[in-house]
Amino acid sequence: MCGIVGYLGDGNVYDILIKGLHRLEYRGYDSAGVALVDGNGEISVFKTKGKVSNLEAFCADKDIDARVGIAHTRWATHGEPSDSNAHPHFSGDGNIAIVHNGTIENYKLLKDALIQHGCEFHSETDTEVLAQLIEYIRVTNNCSLLAAVREALNQVVGAYAIAVVEKNDPDTIIAARQSSPLVIGIGNGEYFLASDATPFVEYTNECVYLKDGEIAEIRRGQPLKITTLDNQEAEIDITKLEMSISQLEKGGYPHFMLKEIFEQPDTLRDCIRGRVVENGTRIILNGVNDNKEKFLNAKRIIIVACGTSWHAGLLGRYLIQDMCRIPVEVEYASEFRYSKPIIYKDDVVIAISQSGETADTLAAIQIAKEAGAFVFGISNVVGSSIPRETYSGCYIHVGPEIGVASTKAFTGQVMVLTLLALSIAQLRNTMSQDKIAEVGNHILRIPDYVEKVLKLNDKIERLSLIFTYARNFLYLGRGYSYPVALEGALKLKEISYIHAEGYPAAEMKHGPIALIDQEMPTVIIAPQDHLYEKIVSNVQQVKARGGNILAIVNEGDTVISNIADHVLEVPVMPECLTPIITSVPLQLLSYYIAINKGKDVDMPRNLAKSVTVE
Ligand code: G6P
Repeated sequence: MCGIVGYLGDGNVYDILIKGLHRLEYRGYDSAGVALVDGNGEISVFKTKGKVSNLEAFCADKDIDARVGIAHTRWATHGEPSDSNAHPHFSGDGNIAIVHNGTIENYKLLKDALIQHGCEFHSETDTEVLAQLIEYIRVTNNCSLLAAVREALNQVVGAYAIAVVEKNDPDTIIAARQSSPLVIGIGNGEYFLASDATPFVEYTNECVYLKDGEIAEIRRGQPLKITTLDNQEAEIDITKLEMSISQLEKGGYPHFMLKEIFEQPDTLRDCIRGRVVENGTRIILNGVNDNKEKFLNAKRIIIVACGTSWHAGLLGRYLIQDMCRIPVEVEYASEFRYSKPIIYKDDVVIAISQSGETADTLAAIQIAKEAGAFVFGISNVVGSSIPRETYSGCYIHVGPEIGVASTKAFTGQVMVLTLLALSIAQLRNTMSQDKIAEVGNHILRIPDYVEKVLKLNDKIERLSLIFTYARNFLYLGRGYSYPVALEGALKLKEISYIHAEGYPAAEMKHGPIALIDQEMPTVIIAPQDHLYEKIVSNVQQVKARGGNILAIVNEGDTVISNIADHVLEVPVMPECLTPIITSVPLQLLSYYIAINKGKDVDMPRNLAKSVTVE
């Protein structure tokens, strides 16, 4: 949800900002802009509708010389994507420019008051309200920019990460955060500012994650200073980044999504490393070991998440209920927060989020904490808000995921949930040692199995041609394969814009069966598990109505293979591990269908990877 970059130093300001914006484009890409302050203290704002590449074209003939700058790539919240709504926004007198990620909830009230005071607005955004408010306070109180920003933020209700520059001061950026991420990179005589660390990873590995309610003063030649909204000095915790530049590049693949699909054998190895030991007979998850009492005493587990992470959460329910016999509820974080949830002190609440920044998930965590539950986070982005807001947790360690449609993060989340269920089962003695060893042993081999599944790539690419012009898809699965069906359908929707519905296979006869004809492909996920016989009947029901079936089955399957029109075979696994294996061909299928349709798979329309607004 919008990406912010800032730079103050002797490097090429414009180039650093643009490169940084490209790295943050996963956060939104409907318009982009830069504010550049030159050596004379003049601010130039260049902004335009569309992606960062449009901004580059727009700036091609502009004077982009600068000493300091801030930049923004937008995912629209207030006002349509347009040149005028693009950031940065100026204050009325053009003295300050601001970029903002988040939403100012009381912007209407503030705007009306500012209009009463004679301010004129040039955009529909809440951000311009903040720019005008800061300037109004500065002029009225005759105070510094820092003091005006602090005062303005004390009047604001909502979420923000902001960066502000001022005319006549090419040596300062003021930045602040509340509920939207912001990190400051500290280089040699230079400072970087960004929504995540990716824009400056090649320049420095030292950074400071700003905390909620903090304001940073970034001044040339001076040490970083951080104060709070009530003007107390804050501590500066310097974090060392462990990210490499190669993780942020396509590495020879045409798209990040394809690269990330193919990275899965390695990302799963990274995810498992050090956690499955003694030949698979023992699982070590520090987040569980350090909080044994909480997991031993838990009467119930509630999983909160959004999007793909919610699908991983559904799998978490099957895994934990199966292995640990603890009741599990899985909630959309956005619904949970407003559902007057009943939360007990001995509940364990697990929040799952790739980005670690999803606003609804963060709000759900807050509610769970207030109710006294133990809150455990599963995230990918190290140092993001969710790992910091939860009491304990674990990272999925799959490296930066840049394609907007989640792939390697999903399999990483499912893997971590499997390890979590196994380690709770170990703790509570709800699984025999033999069974744990059997599953643990297969987990160690999962990266190799995924490598094998990826060999289906060419076949899937060919198959995708048959399905490219379908207008609707049905994805069916039962048990562990039901969330896989939901995730497969979501992947297709997200990047190809084809309508797709995931359904529990047995539920199909209560409605969706009416849709089945030759025009609508049905994708059936049918590994040989305890529901196999049941799903065979569902496959027959679809076929009897002339449906066109693509089935994901296990190697050696003879029954469904004879009924389905097309089959993709994956290796045989213990039932609880099948989702990791069966979801990979569905990722490839969505990818190729979207490519055949000429869609931008890495930046699908209207979506953003990190959703920091409600
Ligand atoms: C967005 C992304 C999805 C993601 C969801 C939740 O909608 O496009 O891919 O699953 O947010 O994000 P999180 O970072 O919390 O997993």
